[in-house]
Amino acid sequence: MSSLEQIVAAAEAGFLAAKDPAALENAKAKYLGKTGQITAQMKGLGQLDPEARRTQGAVINQAKEKIEALLNVRRTAMADAQMQSRLDAEAIDVSLPGRGRGVGGIHPVMRSWQRVSEIFSSIGFEAADGPEIETDWTNFSALNSPENHPARSMQDTFYIDAKDSTGKPLLLRTHTSPMQVRYARMHKPPIKVIAPGRTYRVDSDATHSPMFHQVEGLWIDTDISFADLKGVYLNFVQAFFETDDLQVRFRPSYFPFTEPSAEIDIAFGTGPLKGRWLEVSGAGQVHPTVIRNMGLDPEQYIGFAFGSGLERLTMLRYGINDLRLFYEGDLRFLKQFN
Ligand code: FA5
Ligand code: MG
Repeated sequence: MSSLEQIVAAAEAGFLAAKDPAALENAKAKYLGKTGQITAQMKGLGQLDPEARRTQGAVINQAKEKIEALLNVRRTAMADAQMQSRLDAEAIDVSLPGRGRGVGGIHPVMRSWQRVSEIFSSIGFEAADGPEIETDWTNFSALNSPENHPARSMQDTFYIDAKDSTGKPLLLRTHTSPMQVRYARMHKPPIKVIAPGRTYRVDSDATHSPMFHQVEGLWIDTDISFADLKGVYLNFVQAFFETDDLQVRFRPSYFPFTEPSAEIDIAFGTGPLKGRWLEVSGAGQVHPTVIRNMGLDPEQYIGFAFGSGLERLTMLRYGINDLRLFYEGDLRFLKQFN
Protein backbone atom coordinates (compact mmCIF):
# COMPACT_ATOMS: atom_id res chain seq x y z
CA MET A 1 0.00 0.00 0.00
CA SER A 2 1.35 3.41 -0.94
CA SER A 3 1.67 5.94 1.79
CA LEU A 4 -1.26 7.85 0.27
CA GLU A 5 -3.42 4.71 0.30
CA GLN A 6 -2.45 4.27 3.96
CA ILE A 7 -3.49 7.85 4.69
CA VAL A 8 -6.87 7.29 3.02
CA ALA A 9 -7.39 4.05 4.97
CA ALA A 10 -6.43 5.76 8.25
CA ALA A 11 -8.78 8.66 7.51
CA GLU A 12 -11.67 6.25 6.84
CA ALA A 13 -11.02 4.42 10.11
CA GLY A 14 -10.72 7.74 11.97
CA PHE A 15 -14.01 9.01 10.53
CA LEU A 16 -15.81 5.78 11.44
CA ALA A 17 -14.41 5.92 14.97
CA ALA A 18 -15.66 9.50 15.50
CA LYS A 19 -18.68 9.34 17.80
CA ASP A 20 -20.14 12.82 17.20
CA PRO A 21 -19.83 15.76 14.78
CA ALA A 22 -17.15 17.48 16.89
CA ALA A 23 -14.97 14.35 16.90
CA LEU A 24 -15.51 14.03 13.14
CA GLU A 25 -14.33 17.60 12.52
CA ASN A 26 -11.19 16.88 14.61
CA ALA A 27 -10.53 13.75 12.55
CA LYS A 28 -10.96 15.78 9.35
CA ALA A 29 -8.36 18.32 10.50
CA LYS A 30 -5.85 15.51 10.97
CA TYR A 31 -5.92 14.88 7.18
CA LEU A 32 -7.30 17.95 5.42
CA GLY A 33 -6.46 20.70 7.92
CA LYS A 34 -3.58 23.22 7.64
CA THR A 35 -1.17 20.84 9.32
CA GLY A 36 -2.96 17.74 8.08
CA GLN A 37 -1.28 14.82 6.34
CA ILE A 38 -2.68 15.53 2.83
CA THR A 39 -1.75 19.17 3.15
CA ALA A 40 1.79 18.09 4.07
CA GLN A 41 1.93 15.93 0.93
CA MET A 42 0.88 18.93 -1.19
CA LYS A 43 3.61 21.04 0.36
CA GLY A 44 6.15 18.34 -0.56
CA LEU A 45 5.35 18.78 -4.27
CA GLY A 46 7.52 21.88 -4.41
CA GLN A 47 10.69 19.80 -4.20
CA LEU A 48 9.79 17.67 -7.27
CA ASP A 49 10.65 18.49 -10.89
CA PRO A 50 7.70 19.76 -13.00
CA GLU A 51 6.92 16.37 -14.68
CA ALA A 52 6.85 14.42 -11.40
CA ARG A 53 4.99 17.29 -9.71
CA ARG A 54 2.11 16.98 -12.20
CA THR A 55 1.63 13.21 -11.84
CA GLN A 56 2.17 13.17 -8.08
CA GLY A 57 -0.12 16.18 -7.69
CA ALA A 58 -2.92 14.33 -9.50
CA VAL A 59 -2.48 11.27 -7.25
CA ILE A 60 -2.57 13.40 -4.11
CA ASN A 61 -5.72 15.16 -5.37
CA GLN A 62 -7.39 11.81 -5.96
CA ALA A 63 -6.56 10.77 -2.39
CA LYS A 64 -7.86 14.11 -1.10
CA GLU A 65 -11.16 13.70 -3.01
CA LYS A 66 -11.53 10.18 -1.64
CA ILE A 67 -11.06 11.44 1.90
CA GLU A 68 -13.59 14.25 1.33
CA ALA A 69 -16.10 11.72 -0.04
CA LEU A 70 -15.55 9.45 2.99
CA LEU A 71 -16.00 12.46 5.25
CA ASN A 72 -19.32 13.35 3.60
CA VAL A 73 -20.63 9.81 3.88
CA ARG A 74 -19.84 9.82 7.58
CA ARG A 75 -21.36 13.30 8.07
CA THR A 76 -24.60 12.23 6.39
CA ALA A 77 -24.74 9.00 8.39
CA MET A 78 -24.26 10.97 11.60
CA ALA A 79 -26.98 13.51 10.76
CA ASP A 80 -29.38 10.68 9.84
CA ALA A 81 -28.69 8.88 13.11
CA GLN A 82 -29.23 12.09 15.06
CA MET A 83 -32.55 12.74 13.32
CA GLN A 84 -33.66 9.18 13.93
CA SER A 85 -32.91 9.35 17.64
CA ARG A 86 -34.84 12.65 17.90
CA LEU A 87 -37.78 11.11 16.10
CA ASP A 88 -37.68 8.16 18.46
CA ALA A 89 -37.45 10.38 21.53
CA GLU A 90 -40.20 12.79 20.46
CA ALA A 91 -42.52 10.16 19.10
CA ILE A 92 -46.22 10.90 19.49
CA ASP A 93 -48.63 8.05 19.76
CA VAL A 94 -51.42 9.43 17.59
CA SER A 95 -53.66 6.54 18.61
CA LEU A 96 -53.82 7.78 22.24
CA PRO A 97 -57.05 9.56 23.22
CA GLY A 98 -56.71 13.35 23.70
CA ARG A 99 -56.11 14.72 27.18
CA GLY A 100 -59.06 17.10 26.91
CA ARG A 101 -59.61 20.27 28.93
CA GLY A 102 -60.01 19.85 32.69
CA VAL A 103 -63.65 19.72 33.69
CA GLY A 104 -64.70 22.94 35.42
CA GLY A 105 -66.58 22.97 38.70
CA ILE A 106 -69.10 25.12 40.48
CA HIS A 107 -67.62 27.75 42.80
CA PRO A 108 -68.48 27.04 46.46
CA VAL A 109 -70.24 30.40 46.86
CA MET A 110 -72.32 29.66 43.74
CA ARG A 111 -73.24 26.29 45.24
CA SER A 112 -74.59 28.15 48.27
CA TRP A 113 -76.51 30.49 45.96
CA GLN A 114 -78.11 27.43 44.32
CA ARG A 115 -78.89 25.72 47.65
CA VAL A 116 -80.47 28.86 49.11
CA SER A 117 -82.61 29.30 45.98
CA GLU A 118 -83.77 25.68 46.09
CA ILE A 119 -84.67 25.80 49.78
CA PHE A 120 -86.67 29.04 49.54
CA SER A 121 -88.32 27.94 46.32
CA SER A 122 -89.51 24.81 48.15
CA ILE A 123 -91.40 27.00 50.66
CA GLY A 124 -92.99 29.23 48.04
CA PHE A 125 -90.57 32.14 47.63
CA GLU A 126 -90.09 33.64 44.16
CA ALA A 127 -86.53 34.57 43.09
CA ALA A 128 -85.82 38.03 41.69
CA ASP A 129 -82.79 39.63 40.11
CA GLY A 130 -81.88 43.32 40.20
CA PRO A 131 -79.25 45.85 39.14
CA GLU A 132 -75.82 45.97 40.77
CA ILE A 133 -75.54 49.66 39.83
CA GLU A 134 -78.11 51.44 41.93
CA THR A 135 -79.50 54.88 42.55
CA ASP A 136 -78.93 56.66 45.83
CA TRP A 137 -82.69 56.59 46.43
CA THR A 138 -83.15 52.83 46.08
CA ASN A 139 -79.97 51.85 47.93
CA PHE A 140 -80.42 54.33 50.79
CA SER A 141 -83.25 56.88 50.91
CA ALA A 142 -86.15 54.51 50.14
CA LEU A 143 -84.77 52.31 52.89
CA ASN A 144 -85.22 55.11 55.40
CA SER A 145 -81.54 56.15 55.32
CA PRO A 146 -81.77 59.82 54.34
CA GLU A 147 -78.71 61.74 53.20
CA ASN A 148 -76.29 62.49 56.05
CA HIS A 149 -77.86 59.76 58.17
CA PRO A 150 -75.02 58.19 60.20
CA ALA A 151 -76.20 54.66 59.27
CA ARG A 152 -74.96 55.33 55.73
CA SER A 153 -71.36 55.35 56.91
CA MET A 154 -71.65 51.65 57.84
CA GLN A 155 -71.93 50.96 54.13
CA ASP A 156 -69.22 52.93 52.36
CA THR A 157 -69.27 52.12 48.68
CA PHE A 158 -67.98 52.77 45.18
CA TYR A 159 -69.53 55.64 43.24
CA ILE A 160 -69.84 55.90 39.48
CA ASP A 161 -69.25 59.00 37.36
CA ALA A 162 -72.73 58.73 35.80
CA LYS A 163 -75.61 60.46 37.61
CA ASP A 164 -79.28 59.49 38.05
CA SER A 165 -82.24 61.67 36.98
CA THR A 166 -82.03 63.69 40.20
CA GLY A 167 -78.35 64.48 39.64
CA LYS A 168 -77.05 62.09 42.30
CA PRO A 169 -74.13 59.80 41.37
CA LEU A 170 -74.98 56.16 40.73
CA LEU A 171 -73.31 53.64 43.03
CA LEU A 172 -72.54 49.94 43.35
CA ARG A 173 -75.25 48.59 45.66
CA THR A 174 -74.00 47.96 49.19
CA HIS A 175 -76.67 45.34 49.91
CA THR A 176 -79.50 43.52 48.19
CA SER A 177 -82.10 45.45 50.25
CA PRO A 178 -82.92 47.85 47.35
CA MET A 179 -84.60 44.82 45.80
CA GLN A 180 -87.22 44.94 48.58
CA VAL A 181 -88.51 48.24 47.23
CA ARG A 182 -87.96 47.44 43.53
CA TYR A 183 -89.84 44.15 43.78
CA ALA A 184 -92.66 45.39 46.03
CA ARG A 185 -93.37 48.34 43.69
CA MET A 186 -93.92 45.87 40.84
CA HIS A 187 -95.90 43.13 42.64
CA LYS A 188 -99.06 42.99 44.72
CA PRO A 189 -99.02 41.48 48.22
CA PRO A 190 -98.69 38.88 49.47
CA ILE A 191 -95.03 39.34 48.56
CA LYS A 192 -92.74 36.40 49.18
CA VAL A 193 -89.41 36.75 47.42
CA ILE A 194 -85.67 36.22 47.66
CA ALA A 195 -83.13 38.27 45.70
CA PRO A 196 -79.62 36.85 45.61
CA GLY A 197 -76.83 38.84 43.99
CA ARG A 198 -73.53 40.66 44.10
CA THR A 199 -72.95 43.57 46.47
CA TYR A 200 -70.03 45.95 47.04
CA ARG A 201 -68.42 47.78 49.92
CA VAL A 202 -65.08 49.31 50.84
CA ASP A 203 -64.22 46.32 53.06
CA SER A 204 -61.38 43.80 53.18
CA ASP A 205 -60.40 41.28 55.84
CA ALA A 206 -60.90 37.60 56.73
CA THR A 207 -64.69 38.00 56.92
CA HIS A 208 -65.20 40.92 54.49
CA SER A 209 -64.48 41.26 50.79
CA PRO A 210 -65.05 44.33 48.58
CA MET A 211 -67.36 42.27 46.33
CA PHE A 212 -69.53 39.74 48.08
CA HIS A 213 -72.91 38.08 47.74
CA GLN A 214 -76.07 38.58 49.69
CA VAL A 215 -79.46 37.02 49.47
CA GLU A 216 -82.35 39.27 50.40
CA GLY A 217 -85.55 37.73 51.71
CA LEU A 218 -88.87 39.57 51.96
CA TRP A 219 -92.29 38.37 53.09
CA ILE A 220 -95.06 40.96 53.27
CA ASP A 221 -98.69 40.21 54.00
CA THR A 222 -101.31 41.40 56.48
CA ASP A 223 -99.99 39.34 59.40
CA ILE A 224 -96.32 38.34 59.00
CA SER A 225 -94.57 38.67 62.35
CA PHE A 226 -91.10 38.53 63.85
CA ALA A 227 -92.01 35.00 64.99
CA ASP A 228 -92.47 34.06 61.33
CA LEU A 229 -89.01 35.46 60.62
CA LYS A 230 -87.51 33.28 63.34
CA GLY A 231 -89.39 30.20 62.18
CA VAL A 232 -88.60 30.63 58.49
CA TYR A 233 -84.96 31.49 59.09
CA LEU A 234 -84.35 28.61 61.49
CA ASN A 235 -85.94 26.17 59.07
CA PHE A 236 -83.81 27.61 56.29
CA VAL A 237 -80.49 27.21 58.09
CA GLN A 238 -81.39 23.72 59.28
CA ALA A 239 -82.06 22.75 55.66
CA PHE A 240 -78.97 24.58 54.41
CA PHE A 241 -76.59 22.96 56.90
CA GLU A 242 -78.50 19.66 56.82
CA THR A 243 -78.67 19.46 60.61
CA ASP A 244 -80.89 20.54 63.50
CA ASP A 245 -77.84 20.60 65.73
CA LEU A 246 -77.00 24.28 65.12
CA GLN A 247 -76.19 27.16 67.43
CA VAL A 248 -78.16 30.16 66.09
CA ARG A 249 -78.79 33.44 67.90
CA PHE A 250 -80.78 36.56 67.08
CA ARG A 251 -78.79 39.51 68.46
CA PRO A 252 -80.62 42.86 68.84
CA SER A 253 -79.29 45.37 66.30
CA TYR A 254 -80.18 48.46 64.33
CA PHE A 255 -81.09 49.04 60.69
CA PRO A 256 -82.98 52.16 59.53
CA PHE A 257 -85.22 49.96 57.39
CA THR A 258 -86.38 47.48 60.04
CA GLU A 259 -87.91 47.80 63.50
CA PRO A 260 -87.22 45.77 65.54
CA SER A 261 -83.92 44.67 64.01
CA ALA A 262 -81.61 41.77 64.66
CA GLU A 263 -78.40 40.30 63.44
CA ILE A 264 -78.25 36.54 63.15
CA ASP A 265 -75.11 34.69 64.21
CA ILE A 266 -74.29 31.02 63.78
CA ALA A 267 -71.48 29.15 65.51
CA PHE A 268 -68.98 27.18 63.43
CA GLY A 269 -69.66 23.45 63.83
CA THR A 270 -66.51 22.42 62.01
CA GLY A 271 -63.06 23.71 60.95
CA PRO A 272 -60.38 25.72 62.80
CA LEU A 273 -62.96 28.20 64.16
CA LYS A 274 -65.23 25.49 65.61
CA GLY A 275 -67.42 26.99 68.34
CA ARG A 276 -66.84 30.62 67.27
CA TRP A 277 -69.83 32.84 66.33
CA LEU A 278 -70.04 34.31 62.83
CA GLU A 279 -72.59 36.91 61.79
CA VAL A 280 -74.50 35.69 58.74
CA SER A 281 -77.41 38.06 58.40
CA GLY A 282 -79.23 41.23 59.21
CA ALA A 283 -83.00 40.95 59.63
CA GLY A 284 -86.11 42.51 61.11
CA GLN A 285 -89.69 43.68 60.69
CA VAL A 286 -89.90 46.02 57.69
CA HIS A 287 -90.13 49.65 58.85
CA PRO A 288 -93.47 51.43 58.15
CA THR A 289 -91.63 54.12 56.16
CA VAL A 290 -90.20 51.44 53.85
CA ILE A 291 -93.67 49.85 53.49
CA ARG A 292 -94.90 53.27 52.39
CA ASN A 293 -92.00 53.62 49.91
CA MET A 294 -93.08 50.27 48.50
CA GLY A 295 -96.40 51.93 47.66
CA LEU A 296 -98.25 50.02 50.40
CA ASP A 297 -100.26 51.10 53.43
CA PRO A 298 -98.32 50.34 56.63
CA GLU A 299 -101.64 50.12 58.53
CA GLN A 300 -102.54 47.15 56.37
CA TYR A 301 -99.28 45.46 55.49
CA ILE A 302 -96.52 44.11 57.66
CA GLY A 303 -93.73 41.60 57.25
CA PHE A 304 -90.10 40.71 57.67
CA ALA A 305 -86.92 41.03 55.64
CA PHE A 306 -83.45 39.62 55.96
CA GLY A 307 -80.15 40.02 54.09
CA SER A 308 -77.68 37.16 54.49
CA GLY A 309 -74.07 36.85 53.35
CA LEU A 310 -73.53 33.91 50.99
CA GLU A 311 -69.77 33.84 51.66
CA ARG A 312 -70.47 33.65 55.41
CA LEU A 313 -72.93 30.76 54.97
CA THR A 314 -70.35 28.98 52.81
CA MET A 315 -67.60 29.55 55.39
CA LEU A 316 -69.76 27.96 58.08
CA ARG A 317 -70.81 25.07 55.89
CA TYR A 318 -67.26 24.02 55.06
CA GLY A 319 -65.42 25.34 58.13
CA ILE A 320 -63.41 27.96 56.18
CA ASN A 321 -61.75 30.59 58.36
CA ASP A 322 -60.89 33.22 55.70
CA LEU A 323 -63.30 34.24 52.94
CA ARG A 324 -60.50 35.69 50.79
CA LEU A 325 -59.73 32.08 49.82
CA PHE A 326 -62.88 32.17 47.70
CA TYR A 327 -61.41 34.85 45.44
CA GLU A 328 -57.74 33.91 45.08
CA GLY A 329 -58.46 31.45 42.27
CA ASP A 330 -56.21 28.78 43.82
CA LEU A 331 -57.28 25.50 42.23
CA ARG A 332 -55.95 23.48 45.18
CA PHE A 333 -58.58 25.22 47.31
CA LEU A 334 -61.40 25.31 44.76
CA LYS A 335 -61.06 21.67 43.66
CA GLN A 336 -61.99 20.48 47.15
CA PHE A 337 -65.61 21.42 46.51
CA ASN A 338 -66.09 19.46 43.31
C1 FA5 B 1 -77.22 44.59 55.57
O1 FA5 B 1 -76.58 44.66 54.53
C2 FA5 B 1 -78.70 44.73 55.58
N1 FA5 B 1 -79.15 45.15 54.29
C3 FA5 B 1 -79.32 43.39 55.98
C4 FA5 B 1 -80.78 43.46 56.23
C5 FA5 B 1 -81.68 43.13 55.24
C6 FA5 B 1 -81.26 43.87 57.48
C7 FA5 B 1 -83.03 43.16 55.48
C8 FA5 B 1 -82.59 43.94 57.70
C9 FA5 B 1 -83.50 43.58 56.72
P1 FA5 B 1 -75.14 43.96 57.07
O2 FA5 B 1 -74.31 45.14 56.73
O3 FA5 B 1 -75.07 43.43 58.45
O4 FA5 B 1 -76.68 44.28 56.78
O5 FA5 B 1 -74.80 42.81 56.05
C10 FA5 B 1 -75.57 41.64 56.02
C11 FA5 B 1 -74.68 40.43 55.88
O6 FA5 B 1 -73.90 40.55 54.70
C12 FA5 B 1 -73.68 40.29 57.00
O7 FA5 B 1 -74.26 39.66 58.11
C13 FA5 B 1 -72.63 39.44 56.37
O8 FA5 B 1 -73.06 38.09 56.34
C14 FA5 B 1 -72.64 39.94 54.94
N2 FA5 B 1 -71.58 40.93 54.67
C15 FA5 B 1 -71.60 42.25 54.92
N3 FA5 B 1 -70.47 42.84 54.48
C16 FA5 B 1 -69.72 41.87 53.93
C17 FA5 B 1 -68.45 41.84 53.29
N4 FA5 B 1 -67.73 42.94 53.09
N5 FA5 B 1 -67.97 40.64 52.85
C18 FA5 B 1 -68.70 39.52 53.03
N6 FA5 B 1 -69.90 39.49 53.60
C19 FA5 B 1 -70.42 40.65 54.06
MG1 MG C 1 -74.09 43.40 60.12
